Amino acid sequence: MEKPAPADHPIQDLLARRWSPRSFADEAVPGKILLSLFEAARWAPSSFNEQPWFFLIAVKEDREAFERMLSCLVPGNQAWAKGAPVLMLTAARLAFERDAKPNRHAFHDVGLAAMSLVIEATARGLFAHQMAGIEAEKIRASYGLPDDVDPATAIALGYPADAIPEDMTERELAPRSRKALEDFIFTEGWGKPASLLR
Ligand SMILES: Cc1cc2nc3c(=O)[nH]c(=O)nc-3n(C[C@H](O)[C@H](O)[C@H](O)COP(=O)(O)O)c2cc1C
Repeated sequence: MEKPAPADHPIQDLLARRWSPRSFADEAVPGKILLSLFEAARWAPSSFNEQPWFFLIAVKEDREAFERMLSCLVPGNQAWAKGAPVLMLTAARLAFERDAKPNRHAFHDVGLAAMSLVIEATARGLFAHQMAGIEAEKIRASYGLPDDVDPATAIALGYPADAIPEDMTERELAPRSRKALEDFIFTEGWGKPASLLR
């Protein structure tokens, strides 16, 4: 299903087409395509080119790996994400490799890599749904994350569903909404919309 953003100003088609569905087609994503998605993530910018991102992936064909990853999501997310053909977890290394000092921008940079992956996916007819609802400590223990690496999000990925399951119709068809530009673009001070917007 397509659900383009009703943008107030023109934006690139890829950005408008991206959205976060909860229903996916029962169709595997070829490994070659998954490699391109990770390659897109790899070329994301990062503070000091630290590349603090990590991805764990499980595809549905590998039942055991898929169930293990699915069990690391909160129940509300498991309920729909089990229908996706691909699950991923993202994680951030919170300390710089070279001097172990805190990297204040680690999660920011994981987000950039994730968005690159998501946009590459959109260009290839795929859709992704990112999730904060994960069991961080379970992920840490289950996959043996080092102490300076923190779980960040999960991502469900797949081709769009031909039909939306009845129990999901309301959420899947709900209109997409955003704050107005005036609410978050300032010049003179906090809460004062930039003159560009007047
Ligand atoms: C970091 C992050 C965490 C999110 N966590 C969840 C989640 O746990 N469960 C869920 O159903 N959606 C989750 N979402 C999806 C958002 O609700 C969704 O992106 C937002 O409502 C905007 O909708 P759109 O992506 O379709 O434009 C998350 C998105 C992001 C980027």
